[in-house]
Amino acid sequence: MTEPIRIQRRGSAAVLILHRPDRRNALSRDLVLAIGRVGPALLADPGVRAVVLTGSGEAAFCAGADLKERQGMSPDQVREFLDLCRSEWSWLETARVPTIAALNGAALGGGLELALCCDLRVAADHAILGLPETSLAIVPGAGGTQRLPRLVGTGQAMELILRASRITASEALAIGLVNRVTPVGSDVVNDTLAWIEPILSGAPIAIEGALGAVRAARSVSLEEGLQLERAAYEKTLASEDRLEALAAFAEKRKPSFKGK
Ligand code: COA
Repeated sequence: MTEPIRIQRRGSAAVLILHRPDRRNALSRDLVLAIGRVGPALLADPGVRAVVLTGSGEAAFCAGADLKERQGMSPDQVREFLDLCRSEWSWLETARVPTIAALNGAALGGGLELALCCDLRVAADHAILGLPETSLAIVPGAGGTQRLPRLVGTGQAMELILRASRITASEALAIGLVNRVTPVGSDVVNDTLAWIEPILSGAPIAIEGALGAVRAARSVSLEEGLQLERAAYEKTLASEDRLEALAAFAEKRKPSFKGK
């Protein structure tokens, strides 16, 4: 059987490609497990400074749950599938480096929920996005009801989920569901890699600290968040890269960070 995931190293970024083209990269149980398997392995490489998640082909990033596989599943198997999405994708929200979804096409249902686990989202101009679960007589089950309102606000999330609507990349940009739309004619992964260049060449200790503090802002009190921010700042204070940044500023040159 073909591996449902491919991995490419592009400079200091690891690109993870969902690869089930004949099913529009829909989430089989095997694909959900493969996402969980490759993540920690990629992150073990200290040279990896960002993880980009994309899909094969141009039609779909991911068409959500594999509805053909789902037909043969018992309710218990569906429950197990949902649990797996939660456990196997959790690394995307806790990774030491930013995770970025490069939506090469449709991101629907579980496909959009997977993208919502990432820190940033870039969409190809032709991508469509949506959580159509209620039109299939279910509810989003891989975090969509919780992560979407946290990202775009309750009103927008309510509208998307209750109306099961499919929106364009530019509509998604307007509500903050994606951070960027790739210009027509450009490849979404190449465009994403160029766009995250400040992350790839940034000071790793600062990027990791800022990432952790901003992620935490979704769920902790302001007081607790400010403490996390201070702890992250402390780590940068002790770093060689901070001194390098100051020296580079004084010498009017680009800093060269080492992650120390
Ligand atoms: N599960 C299983 N197979 C899927 C699938 C899914 N979620 N989505 C698409 N496929 C399959 C189709 O059945 C078709 O297979 P076939 O050739 O054997 O009939 C193949 O992928 C191509 O699909 P098609 O609809 O022709 O591709 P498209 O490029 O025109 O459209 C989508 C792509 C993603 C927009 C469209 O396939 C779609 O809307 N899929 C369903 C999305 C959905 O409702 N997901 C569930 C959310 S809970």
